[in-house]
Amino acid sequence: MKTVALPSGEKVPAFGLGTWNMGDDRAIRAEELATLRLGLDSGATLIDTAEMYGDGRSEELVGEAIAGRRDEVFLVTKVYPHNASRKGIPAACERSLKRLKTDRIDLYLLHWRGNVPFAETVEAFAALQKAGKIRHYGVSNLDLSDMKEWWKAGGQACAVNQLLYNLTRRGIEFDLQPWLRERKVPVMAYSPIEQARLLREPRLVKFAKSRGITPSQAALAWLLRKEGVIVIPKTSRRERLKENLAALEVEGLEELDRLFPPPAGAQPLDML
Ligand SMILES: NC(=O)c1ccc[n+]([C@@H]2O[C@H](COP(=O)([O-])OP(=O)(O)OC[C@H]3O[C@@H](n4cnc5c(N)ncnc54)[C@H](OP(=O)(O)O)[C@@H]3O)[C@@H](O)[C@H]2O)c1
Repeated sequence: MKTVALPSGEKVPAFGLGTWNMGDDRAIRAEELATLRLGLDSGATLIDTAEMYGDGRSEELVGEAIAGRRDEVFLVTKVYPHNASRKGIPAACERSLKRLKTDRIDLYLLHWRGNVPFAETVEAFAALQKAGKIRHYGVSNLDLSDMKEWWKAGGQACAVNQLLYNLTRRGIEFDLQPWLRERKVPVMAYSPIEQARLLREPRLVKFAKSRGITPSQAALAWLLRKEGVIVIPKTSRRERLKENLAALEVEGLEELDRLFPPPAGAQPLDML
C-alpha cells in the first residue's frame, strides 16, 4: 500500500475508507461490515468517520467492523464545530470512543469552522492528546485564511486538512495546497469521486474507456499519484471496493490534467 507521511513522520495508507451514510440501513449492514473488513485485509487500514454521520451510526458500524483488530487501524473521526469547546470536546470524544468501542482515536478533526475560537479548540485537542485519548489532531474544510488563523492560534501540530478535492474541484491547488505542502501537512481528499456524480462525467467516461479502466479508477488514480494526498472514497459494496483499490496500480494520467484544467486563480473553498 502506498503511504503518506504525517508531519510527525508517521506513515498512513494513501487509500482509506470513507463511511458517510454507512450504518444507516440494516438490510445492507452485513455487506458494509464485510466491505470495511475487506479494506483492512487489503491494506486500506485508515477509516474515516464522524460523530455527525448518521448521528453516531457510522461510528458504531466502524466500531463493530474493527472489533478484535483495533491495532491494525488508523482511526479518524471528527467533532462538530458546536462541540469544539473546552468542555464540549472531551465529552464528544468520550461519546465517539464509546461508539467506536476503543480507548483512543488516531486522528481527531474539527469538522468545519464554527463559532468556538480556534485557540480554545487547539487547547482542548492538546489536552486530549496529553491524556492519551487522541494520538493526532487536525482540521477539515479550512480555507487558506482559516488555516493561517488556526496556525497563529497554536495549531501547528495539525496532522491533516481534510478537503473536498477531485478532478472537478481543483481550487485548493492554487494556494491552499502549496501552503499546506510547505508545512508538510497532507490533504485528505474527501468525495474523491464527487459522490459518484463524477462517474457520469462525459470527459472522464471517454478517457477511462480509452484506457480500459473504469471512471472511478481514473479519478482515484489521478489523486493517488499526487504527493501528500490521502483519498477516502466511500463504498458499501465489496465489488466496488476491489474496483477502487485497483486504482493504486494505474499510471500515466497526464491527459486528465488537460481535460480537467487546474485553477487559474484563487477560488473560495468548495465544501459538500
Ligand atoms: N470532512 C467533510 O466535510 C467530508 C464531507 C464529505 C465526505 N467526507 C468523507 O469522505 C468520504 C468520501 O466522500 P463521499 O462519501 O462524500 O463521496 P465519494 O467517496 O466521492 O462517493 C461515494 C459514492 O460513490 C459510490 N461509489 C463508490 N465507489 C463506486 C464505484 N466504483 N462505482 C460506482 N459508484 C461508486 C458510493 O455508492 P456505494 O456505497 O453504494 O458503492 C457512494 O454513493 C465520506 O464517506 C466521508 O468519510 C468528509
